[in-house]
This record gives sequence, structure tokens and C-alpha cells, in this order.
Amino acid sequence: MNFIDLKAQYEHLKVRIDQRIAKVLEHGQYIMGPEVQELEERLSDYVGAKHCISCANGTDALQLALMALGVKHDDAVIVPSFTFFASAEAVAAVGAEPVFVDIEPDTYNLSPSSLIAAIEAYRKQGRKNLKAVMSVDLFGQCANYPEIEKICAEFDLLLIEDAAQGFGGSINGNKACSFGDIATTSFFPAKPLGCYGDGGAVFTDNDEYAELLRSFRVHGKGTDKYDNIRIGMNSRLDTIQAAILLEKLAVFPQELNARQEAATWYQSNIHGNYKLPALAEGRQSSWAQYTLRVTGQVERDVCLAALKDRGIPSAVYYPVPVHSSGAFLGADVYTDLHQSEKASVSVFSVPMHPYLSEADQEKIAGALNSL
Ligand SMILES: Cc1ncc(COP(=O)(O)O)c(C=O)c1O
Repeated sequence: MNFIDLKAQYEHLKVRIDQRIAKVLEHGQYIMGPEVQELEERLSDYVGAKHCISCANGTDALQLALMALGVKHDDAVIVPSFTFFASAEAVAAVGAEPVFVDIEPDTYNLSPSSLIAAIEAYRKQGRKNLKAVMSVDLFGQCANYPEIEKICAEFDLLLIEDAAQGFGGSINGNKACSFGDIATTSFFPAKPLGCYGDGGAVFTDNDEYAELLRSFRVHGKGTDKYDNIRIGMNSRLDTIQAAILLEKLAVFPQELNARQEAATWYQSNIHGNYKLPALAEGRQSSWAQYTLRVTGQVERDVCLAALKDRGIPSAVYYPVPVHSSGAFLGADVYTDLHQSEKASVSVFSVPMHPYLSEADQEKIAGALNSL
């Protein structure tokens, strides 16, 4: 059994993907070939954002977003502590200070009340200019944007949506990657929409940000790539990855339905002392992960061992809240982060992908229900 079965997906899409790759090999435009623009158009239509700027990975997408918003050394950016390291890393990479906030215990997403507490504390005691919030759509569920957008407007903060895991999710029909001033995603192979290597994209409705993003991703280009008018990066999406993504995007709605079916099956067939994933009102998740929670580390170790004994893969996202990671040890903390700390010792994820068989799901639920 695989945690995420990319091979089963490839077998399903083999003919279409092979043909698309062969087309790229024939025309030979490996950098910024026609598939890149075609994908950007399809992605912005899908998301409902005016601009899509593809790039080399989801971490670069965050860094490009921060650069386009003008976040620099003397700025600070709020980030949830319970996320993948890259969210905070991108803030530090542009020289700004990540200010950690806590999560909601049910959705694992940024807590609006913790956000207000951190803003007020940082504006009293912090050393830098608090400029933006980076909110993360963890495990496939959009964060509470109706509330977060209101808070950002009230406190005059820019908003970035890190939808690396959220692509495909929505709130009342508004799709992930359409929230905030700029949104980003990742096409890492294990993500809901993944390519066969690294890839990412940035979305915005703002023409000025879009122009800056297109410049930053190609060495700060002006009218052409040898007219370098600002310091940028080299962060383009490979044409071959765009070709693969075009075929995967074509079946993405069906795959999302299959993920939803697998999640619904888990919800009604896993019993016992497990806290199952909770969706807030109006949310559709892309089920990037199916994450369960037990009371603590000892209980989690028992579950992980039982799954391993039966040959069932599992994973812990994330065993260390980012504010406790080696890179940020000693960083100033402005609000209570105990929900992030509690989640990191009590959550674990079980296999979730669109090709998961009912037999495998029965095996997984059987193992968990026997404890
Ligand atoms: C929440 C979050 N942000 C950012 C990233 C970074 O994406 P990438 O691995 O494509 O750089 C990831 C990837 O795991 C992620 O989960």
C-alpha cells in the first residue's frame, strides 16, 4: 500500500501524459514553452484569479509573493506555527521577521483570535514594521478567510494565502488561491495537483503585482531577459512539468470527487478515540491529507506502530511546530502557541489519494478500530 499512489495515477493517465511530453520533446522549447502559458491560463480560469504566474516550486512562490508585496528587512510577517517550514522560511529568506501565531484546534488553520492577539502584542513590543499575514490552508482546507480578510483590513495588513496544500479546496464556492492580495501553491508530486518534479504558481487579481511577479521570476527582467531592472530570481516552471500538469488538471475535478469519497468513507468507518478531520462551514477540502488526532504522543506511537505492523504507511505532519524548529529557536514569541504544540504531538495522517481502494481503506480502518 502507498501513502500517495502516483504510480496508479500515472497508469490511469499514461497515454495522455506520454503524448503531451512527446509534444514538448518535438518542439524543444523546454524553457517557457507554449504549455507554460496554456497552463497559466487554465489555472487562472480554474481558480477565478485574474493572473497566474507559474514558478519553480511552492517555496519560491511564497518568496516571489513577498517580494511583489515589497516585504523587506525592516518588515515582519505573521505566520501560523503549525505548518510546513517553508511558510516561515520564505519570510526569513527575504530578510523579514516571521511572527508566529496559533491555530484552531479543529481545523489546524490559523486562529483569528490568536492573530488579533499577535498583531496587538507585536505592534506594542515588536521591533519591525508588521506588514503582512501569511495564512496557510493546511491539509487541504482553506483557512478562515472571511474573518482573516476582515482583520487584515482593520489592521492595515497585506494578506498572502499559502495554498500549497489547499489547491482544489473552496469556501462557499470561492476557490483556494483566490483569497488575499496574493495566493500561492505548490505542484510538488504529493500535492493535490502535483507534477513530476518541483513546480509552483502565484495568483493575484492585481495587475501591478502580476507584472512584478513576472519580472522577479526571470532575474528581475524589464522588457527582455537581458534588461535587468531589479534583483529577482531564476524561478520558472519547466515546460515538461507544465505539459504534465495540463493533463492532470483535466482530470482534477474527478480526482477531487474521488478524494472526497475516500474521506467520507473514512469519516463513517473509523471509530474509537480518534478526532476525525473537521470542516468549517461552507468548506470543501481538497483532502491533501487525511489527518487524525489522538490524545498525545504515547497514544500516537501506539497507532503508528500498529499501522506499521500491518504494512500500512502513515506520516506525521508536523512533528515540530515551526517556532520550535532549530532555525527559529530563540525567536521572540508574541502570543500563546500551545494549540500548535499540542497538535504536533497528537496528529498523524493515513493514506489519502484518488486511487485508494476500498479494500485498502478497510484495512486501515480495521487496524485503527482494533486499538
Ligand atoms: C504549507 C506549505 N507551504 C509551502 C510549501 C513549499 O512547497 P514546495 O515544496 O513546492 O517548495 C509546502 C510544501 O510542502 C507546504 O506544504
